[in-house]
Amino acid sequence: MTKTISFVNQKGGVGKSTSVINIAACLAKQKKSVLIIDMDPQGNTTQVYSNITDDDQSIYNLLVKNTANQISIQSLKQKTYIKNVDLLPSNVLLSSAELDLVNKKNRESILKNSLKENKKDWKHYDYILIDCQPSLGLLTINSIMASDYVMVPLHADIFSLTGLELLTQTLTNVQKTFESNTTILGFFFTQVNKKEPLFKEAYELCLETYPNHLFKSYISASPTIDQSNATGQSVIHLSPNSNPSKDYQSLTIELMKKSPS
Ligand SMILES: Nc1ncnc2c1ncn2[C@@H]1O[C@H](COP(=O)(O)OP(=O)(O)OP(=O)(O)O)[C@@H](O)[C@H]1O
Ligand SMILES: [Mg+2]
Repeated sequence: MTKTISFVNQKGGVGKSTSVINIAACLAKQKKSVLIIDMDPQGNTTQVYSNITDDDQSIYNLLVKNTANQISIQSLKQKTYIKNVDLLPSNVLLSSAELDLVNKKNRESILKNSLKENKKDWKHYDYILIDCQPSLGLLTINSIMASDYVMVPLHADIFSLTGLELLTQTLTNVQKTFESNTTILGFFFTQVNKKEPLFKEAYELCLETYPNHLFKSYISASPTIDQSNATGQSVIHLSPNSNPSKDYQSLTIELMKKSPS
Protein backbone atom coordinates (compact mmCIF):
# COMPACT_ATOMS: atom_id res chain seq x y z
CA MET A 1 0.00 0.00 0.00
CA THR A 2 1.22 3.52 -0.80
CA LYS A 3 2.91 5.27 2.12
CA THR A 4 2.82 9.06 2.11
CA ILE A 5 5.58 10.87 3.98
CA SER A 6 5.97 14.64 4.49
CA PHE A 7 9.41 16.12 5.14
CA VAL A 8 8.76 18.85 7.68
CA ASN A 9 10.79 21.35 9.65
CA GLN A 10 9.86 24.98 10.16
CA LYS A 11 13.56 25.78 10.25
CA GLY A 12 15.00 26.67 6.82
CA GLY A 13 17.95 24.99 5.16
CA VAL A 14 17.97 21.78 7.21
CA GLY A 15 17.85 19.49 4.16
CA LYS A 16 14.14 18.84 3.54
CA SER A 17 14.36 19.24 -0.25
CA THR A 18 17.75 17.52 -0.53
CA SER A 19 16.38 14.58 1.44
CA VAL A 20 13.24 14.26 -0.71
CA ILE A 21 15.38 14.42 -3.87
CA ASN A 22 17.84 11.79 -2.67
CA ILE A 23 15.52 9.44 -0.78
CA ALA A 24 13.30 9.31 -3.90
CA ALA A 25 16.33 8.24 -5.95
CA CYS A 26 17.37 5.67 -3.32
CA LEU A 27 13.84 4.22 -3.17
CA ALA A 28 13.86 3.91 -6.97
CA LYS A 29 17.18 2.05 -6.71
CA GLN A 30 15.39 -0.36 -4.34
CA LYS A 31 12.80 -0.94 -7.13
CA LYS A 32 10.16 1.22 -5.45
CA SER A 33 8.07 3.73 -7.40
CA VAL A 34 7.80 7.24 -6.04
CA LEU A 35 5.67 10.33 -6.57
CA ILE A 36 7.19 13.54 -5.23
CA ILE A 37 4.81 16.38 -4.36
CA ASP A 38 6.55 19.73 -4.12
CA MET A 39 4.52 21.82 -1.63
CA ASP A 40 7.17 24.54 -1.30
CA PRO A 41 6.73 27.75 -3.35
CA GLN A 42 10.55 27.94 -3.51
CA GLY A 43 10.31 24.89 -5.78
CA ASN A 44 13.80 23.57 -5.03
CA THR A 45 12.90 19.92 -5.63
CA THR A 46 11.13 20.93 -8.82
CA GLN A 47 14.23 22.82 -10.00
CA VAL A 48 16.34 19.69 -9.59
CA TYR A 49 13.95 17.23 -11.22
CA SER A 50 12.05 19.30 -13.82
CA ASN A 51 12.17 22.28 -16.21
CA ILE A 52 8.79 23.78 -15.33
CA THR A 53 8.24 27.48 -16.04
CA ASP A 54 5.95 29.87 -14.15
CA ASP A 55 3.40 29.53 -16.98
CA ASP A 56 3.06 25.76 -16.57
CA GLN A 57 0.43 24.17 -14.34
CA SER A 58 1.62 23.14 -10.91
CA ILE A 59 0.36 21.84 -7.58
CA TYR A 60 -1.07 25.38 -7.18
CA ASN A 61 -3.71 24.57 -9.80
CA LEU A 62 -4.76 21.43 -7.93
CA LEU A 63 -5.02 23.25 -4.60
CA VAL A 64 -6.52 26.60 -5.63
CA LYS A 65 -7.99 26.38 -9.13
CA ASN A 66 -9.68 22.99 -8.94
CA THR A 67 -13.16 24.26 -8.13
CA ALA A 68 -15.01 21.66 -10.28
CA ASN A 69 -12.56 18.76 -9.86
CA GLN A 70 -11.50 19.35 -13.45
CA ILE A 71 -7.77 19.10 -12.71
CA SER A 72 -6.31 15.63 -12.24
CA ILE A 73 -3.03 14.54 -10.70
CA GLN A 74 -2.42 12.63 -13.93
CA SER A 75 -2.55 15.88 -15.94
CA LEU A 76 -0.13 17.70 -13.61
CA LYS A 77 2.48 15.09 -12.95
CA GLN A 78 5.79 15.07 -14.76
CA LYS A 79 8.37 12.39 -15.39
CA THR A 80 11.87 12.86 -13.98
CA TYR A 81 15.10 11.47 -15.39
CA ILE A 82 14.69 8.54 -12.96
CA LYS A 83 12.37 5.89 -14.37
CA ASN A 84 10.43 5.22 -11.18
CA VAL A 85 10.23 8.79 -9.89
CA ASP A 86 7.49 11.24 -10.95
CA LEU A 87 6.84 14.76 -9.72
CA LEU A 88 3.90 17.05 -9.00
CA PRO A 89 5.78 20.32 -9.46
CA SER A 90 5.55 23.59 -7.59
CA ASN A 91 6.06 27.05 -8.95
CA VAL A 92 6.14 30.57 -7.57
CA LEU A 93 2.33 30.94 -7.76
CA LEU A 94 2.12 28.60 -4.78
CA SER A 95 3.37 31.47 -2.61
CA SER A 96 -0.09 33.05 -2.80
CA ALA A 97 -1.97 29.81 -2.04
CA GLU A 98 -2.20 30.38 1.71
CA LEU A 99 -3.93 33.72 1.12
CA ASP A 100 -6.08 32.38 -1.73
CA LEU A 101 -7.35 29.59 0.53
CA VAL A 102 -7.85 31.59 3.71
CA ASN A 103 -11.66 31.62 3.49
CA LYS A 104 -12.08 28.17 2.03
CA LYS A 105 -13.99 25.53 3.99
CA ASN A 106 -11.83 22.59 5.17
CA ARG A 107 -8.81 24.50 3.94
CA GLU A 108 -6.41 22.33 5.92
CA SER A 109 -7.57 19.17 4.07
CA ILE A 110 -7.48 20.32 0.43
CA LEU A 111 -4.47 18.19 -0.52
CA LYS A 112 -5.82 15.20 1.41
CA ASN A 113 -9.19 15.46 -0.34
CA SER A 114 -7.59 15.98 -3.77
CA LEU A 115 -5.55 12.82 -3.24
CA LYS A 116 -8.68 10.94 -2.17
CA GLU A 117 -10.52 12.03 -5.32
CA ASN A 118 -7.59 11.12 -7.57
CA LYS A 119 -6.63 7.80 -6.02
CA LYS A 120 -6.43 5.97 -9.34
CA ASP A 121 -3.65 8.38 -10.39
CA TRP A 122 -1.34 7.53 -7.48
CA LYS A 123 -2.31 4.23 -5.87
CA HIS A 124 0.31 2.31 -7.91
CA TYR A 125 3.17 4.26 -6.27
CA ASP A 126 4.94 2.65 -3.33
CA TYR A 127 5.77 6.01 -1.74
CA ILE A 128 4.62 9.61 -2.02
CA LEU A 129 7.21 12.05 -0.63
CA ILE A 130 6.09 15.62 0.10
CA ASP A 131 8.61 18.46 0.30
CA CYS A 132 7.37 21.21 2.65
CA GLN A 133 8.30 24.85 2.99
CA PRO A 134 10.11 26.12 6.12
CA SER A 135 7.01 27.08 8.08
CA LEU A 136 4.14 25.42 9.91
CA GLY A 137 1.57 27.36 7.86
CA LEU A 138 -1.40 26.15 5.84
CA LEU A 139 0.58 24.43 3.07
CA THR A 140 2.53 22.42 5.61
CA ILE A 141 -0.61 21.55 7.59
CA ASN A 142 -2.17 20.35 4.29
CA SER A 143 0.91 18.20 3.67
CA ILE A 144 0.81 16.71 7.16
CA MET A 145 -2.94 16.03 6.93
CA ALA A 146 -2.42 14.21 3.60
CA SER A 147 0.38 12.02 5.00
CA ASP A 148 0.71 8.78 6.92
CA TYR A 149 4.01 9.94 8.38
CA VAL A 150 6.27 12.91 9.00
CA MET A 151 10.05 12.77 8.63
CA VAL A 152 12.06 15.56 10.26
CA PRO A 153 15.54 16.47 9.04
CA LEU A 154 17.58 18.21 11.72
CA HIS A 155 20.77 20.19 12.17
CA ALA A 156 22.87 19.38 15.21
CA ASP A 157 22.42 22.75 16.92
CA ILE A 158 20.54 24.06 19.89
CA PHE A 159 17.95 26.02 17.85
CA SER A 160 17.05 22.87 15.92
CA LEU A 161 16.53 20.89 19.09
CA THR A 162 14.35 23.54 20.72
CA GLY A 163 12.44 23.91 17.40
CA LEU A 164 11.72 20.20 17.58
CA GLU A 165 9.49 20.79 20.59
CA LEU A 166 7.37 23.30 18.63
CA LEU A 167 7.14 20.84 15.77
CA THR A 168 6.05 17.87 17.88
CA GLN A 169 3.53 20.13 19.67
CA THR A 170 2.12 21.29 16.31
CA LEU A 171 1.75 17.67 15.20
CA THR A 172 -0.09 16.81 18.40
CA ASN A 173 -2.40 19.80 17.82
CA VAL A 174 -3.07 18.72 14.23
CA GLN A 175 -3.83 15.18 15.41
CA LYS A 176 -6.28 16.45 18.04
CA THR A 177 -7.92 19.34 16.17
CA PHE A 178 -8.47 17.56 12.86
CA GLU A 179 -8.60 13.97 14.13
CA SER A 180 -5.63 13.17 11.93
CA ASN A 181 -3.79 9.83 12.14
CA THR A 182 -0.48 11.21 10.89
CA THR A 183 2.41 10.11 13.09
CA ILE A 184 6.11 10.85 13.29
CA LEU A 185 8.21 8.33 11.39
CA GLY A 186 11.39 9.83 12.73
CA PHE A 187 14.06 12.50 13.03
CA PHE A 188 17.40 12.33 11.27
CA PHE A 189 20.46 14.55 11.33
CA THR A 190 21.73 16.15 8.12
CA GLN A 191 24.86 18.09 7.17
CA VAL A 192 26.73 16.24 9.90
CA ASN A 193 30.36 16.72 10.68
CA LYS A 194 31.06 13.64 12.80
CA LYS A 195 34.12 15.23 14.40
CA GLU A 196 32.07 18.12 15.83
CA PRO A 197 31.59 17.46 19.58
CA LEU A 198 28.21 19.23 19.26
CA PHE A 199 26.95 16.50 16.94
CA LYS A 200 27.57 13.75 19.48
CA GLU A 201 25.89 15.82 22.19
CA ALA A 202 22.87 16.64 20.02
CA TYR A 203 22.54 13.02 18.87
CA GLU A 204 22.60 11.71 22.43
CA LEU A 205 20.16 14.34 23.68
CA CYS A 206 17.76 13.58 20.85
CA LEU A 207 18.07 9.82 21.45
CA GLU A 208 17.35 10.32 25.16
CA THR A 209 14.34 12.59 24.51
CA TYR A 210 12.86 10.68 21.56
CA PRO A 211 14.22 7.12 21.84
CA ASN A 212 11.73 5.66 19.37
CA HIS A 213 12.07 8.32 16.76
CA LEU A 214 15.72 8.97 16.04
CA PHE A 215 17.05 7.30 12.89
CA LYS A 216 20.44 5.63 13.33
CA SER A 217 21.52 6.83 9.90
CA TYR A 218 22.55 10.43 9.44
CA ILE A 219 23.71 12.41 6.43
CA SER A 220 27.30 13.67 6.29
CA ALA A 221 28.05 17.22 5.27
CA SER A 222 29.66 17.23 1.86
CA PRO A 223 30.07 19.68 -1.05
CA THR A 224 28.98 16.82 -3.33
CA ILE A 225 25.39 17.57 -2.27
CA ASP A 226 25.59 21.14 -3.59
CA GLN A 227 27.08 19.80 -6.82
CA SER A 228 24.35 17.21 -7.26
CA ASN A 229 21.57 19.75 -6.57
CA ALA A 230 23.20 22.24 -8.97
CA THR A 231 23.49 19.68 -11.77
CA GLY A 232 19.93 18.39 -11.40
CA GLN A 233 20.68 14.87 -10.22
CA SER A 234 20.69 12.81 -7.10
CA VAL A 235 23.92 12.20 -5.25
CA ILE A 236 23.68 8.42 -5.79
CA HIS A 237 23.91 9.09 -9.53
CA LEU A 238 26.50 11.89 -9.43
CA SER A 239 28.83 10.27 -6.93
CA PRO A 240 27.70 6.77 -5.94
CA ASN A 241 30.60 6.11 -3.58
CA SER A 242 30.53 9.44 -1.74
CA ASN A 243 29.58 9.56 1.94
CA PRO A 244 26.20 11.28 1.42
CA SER A 245 25.32 8.70 -1.24
CA LYS A 246 26.02 5.85 1.19
CA ASP A 247 24.25 7.75 4.00
CA TYR A 248 21.07 8.39 2.01
CA GLN A 249 20.99 4.73 0.97
CA SER A 250 21.25 3.51 4.54
CA LEU A 251 18.64 6.06 5.73
CA THR A 252 16.32 4.83 2.95
CA ILE A 253 16.71 1.19 4.05
CA GLU A 254 15.80 2.26 7.60
CA LEU A 255 12.81 4.23 6.28
CA MET A 256 11.58 1.22 4.27
CA LYS A 257 11.81 -1.01 7.36
CA LYS A 258 9.85 1.49 9.47
CA SER A 259 7.20 2.10 6.81
CA PRO A 260 7.02 -0.84 4.41
CA SER A 261 4.98 -0.05 1.28
N1 LIG B 1 24.49 16.83 3.53
C1 LIG B 1 24.73 18.05 3.06
N2 LIG B 1 26.01 18.51 2.95
C2 LIG B 1 26.26 19.76 2.45
N3 LIG B 1 25.31 20.62 2.04
C3 LIG B 1 24.03 20.22 2.13
C4 LIG B 1 23.67 18.93 2.65
N4 LIG B 1 22.31 18.83 2.64
C5 LIG B 1 21.85 19.99 2.13
N5 LIG B 1 22.87 20.82 1.83
C6 LIG B 1 22.79 22.17 1.27
O1 LIG B 1 22.16 22.99 2.25
C7 LIG B 1 21.26 23.90 1.63
C8 LIG B 1 19.87 23.69 2.21
O2 LIG B 1 19.41 22.39 1.87
P1 LIG B 1 17.90 22.18 1.43
O3 LIG B 1 17.50 23.17 0.40
O4 LIG B 1 17.73 20.75 1.10
O5 LIG B 1 17.18 22.50 2.82
P2 LIG B 1 15.64 22.79 3.05
O6 LIG B 1 15.33 22.39 4.44
O7 LIG B 1 14.83 22.19 1.98
O8 LIG B 1 15.58 24.38 2.91
P3 LIG B 1 14.25 25.29 2.92
O9 LIG B 1 13.79 25.30 4.32
O10 LIG B 1 14.70 26.63 2.43
O11 LIG B 1 13.26 24.62 2.01
C9 LIG B 1 21.35 23.64 0.13
O12 LIG B 1 22.25 24.56 -0.41
C10 LIG B 1 21.89 22.23 0.03
O13 LIG B 1 22.61 22.02 -1.16
MG1 LIG C 1 13.42 23.06 0.72
